[in-house]
Amino acid sequence: MSYIEINGGKQLNGEVNIQGSKNAVLPILAATVLVNGITKLNHCPKILDVFNTISILEAIGCIVYWENSSLIIDTTKLNTSTVPDEYVKQMRSSTIFMGALLGRTNSVTISYPGGCTIGKRPINFHLEAFQEMNVSVEDDGNLIHCTTKRVKGSNIFFKMPSVGATENVILAAVLAEGKTHIYNAAREPEITELCKYLNAAGAKITGAGKDEIVIDGVDYLHAVEYTNPSDRIVAGTYLTAVAGTGGEAVLNGIGCSSLQTVISLLKEMGNTILCGEDYIMISSSGKTKPIPFIYTAPYPGFPTDMQSQMMSVLIKASGTSNIYEEVFENRYQNVPELIKFGADIVINDKEATINGVSLLKGSDVFASDLRGGAGLVIAGLMATGKTTIHNPDFIKRGYEDICKDLRNLGADIRYMS
Ligand code: UD1
Repeated sequence: MSYIEINGGKQLNGEVNIQGSKNAVLPILAATVLVNGITKLNHCPKILDVFNTISILEAIGCIVYWENSSLIIDTTKLNTSTVPDEYVKQMRSSTIFMGALLGRTNSVTISYPGGCTIGKRPINFHLEAFQEMNVSVEDDGNLIHCTTKRVKGSNIFFKMPSVGATENVILAAVLAEGKTHIYNAAREPEITELCKYLNAAGAKITGAGKDEIVIDGVDYLHAVEYTNPSDRIVAGTYLTAVAGTGGEAVLNGIGCSSLQTVISLLKEMGNTILCGEDYIMISSSGKTKPIPFIYTAPYPGFPTDMQSQMMSVLIKASGTSNIYEEVFENRYQNVPELIKFGADIVINDKEATINGVSLLKGSDVFASDLRGGAGLVIAGLMATGKTTIHNPDFIKRGYEDICKDLRNLGADIRYMS
């Protein structure tokens, strides 16, 4: 079984290029289904979730191939609207194909995604919205079957600004008859990227990045070339890694705008951060001030996808910090593993109280989700001695090569098999 080995306790210094964004590219890959022709997608990350999405595209009849870091997707020969069960089980976000296949073929069959390790993650908002859009939904708890004569524009009000549900409605609405208004839409930068891609292909979407999005249905989308942005969570992960170990690093290919809440917390913790158009520089003494109150929230709030990494840094803060996880109910699975390093963390429902300790010792730990796994890597870099992290495939779902990137910054870390 493969694992990650770290000899920790070293400062991080140097430069690293930030890979393409996972959460931007996955809905864009689904959206290619709506395009009558070929998409060339530049800066596409080579991560397990992208490989899985390519398998779905191929299974439904598309031709997909790499040209260096660009992915070419030809959807002209799409021949089924059934998403194979095996891929939905491997990757929950394959539900994003629902809106795209409805838009292209007026039907979709997909197995029920169920929960995942970070929470129950229902899809009721997605299905209720489709029903508002003239789609009939049969859901027996195992299989979801959606059909329509024609998707129709509608007014959709979300109780919560769900990222996936907002994306699914946009995808279903782009080729629909009439106008769709989404109220209380998610405002994540990845929604804006999806809309930019679709508009570049001929869609008529306004309001992306705001809580009200309007989509005017069009008859077809044309071939397009698009460049995927850099991954803000990967950048945030490396910023927290440097904050945890101390050192000075430059992250290339991303500015600060999508990371404002993360950056303001890192500054409050005592780090110096400089923002360029296309780079972020961090300088850290490795001495962290505690943060009394952090709560996760939809964008532009503090991202739940950065919570585990931030917790790892706070383990060695000079006092007590509190985190409130408000988005997913099961995102503290890392805590028993962090305690093995010597961390002092108490969980009470949504609240984690982190009492800073002065020393972390390398440990033998198990990743159980993507960002939690990244949090364990950070703890391993901060700890003295050898750390072994099992289940590295969770991390490979979202990081092209976290070990290589961190080695570029001087870390002693590698994949072992
Ligand atoms: C996306 C991101 C994930 C991130 C999350 C929150 C992708 C591929 N994944 O996930 O990395 O952690 O946003 O920023 O972009 N909810 C319902 N019913 C629904 C849909 C959602 O109750 O139908 C709840 C969820 O359980 C959760 C909250 O809404 O508590 C937010 O979830 P959502 O924004 O939908 O997350 P995802 O799109 O699954």
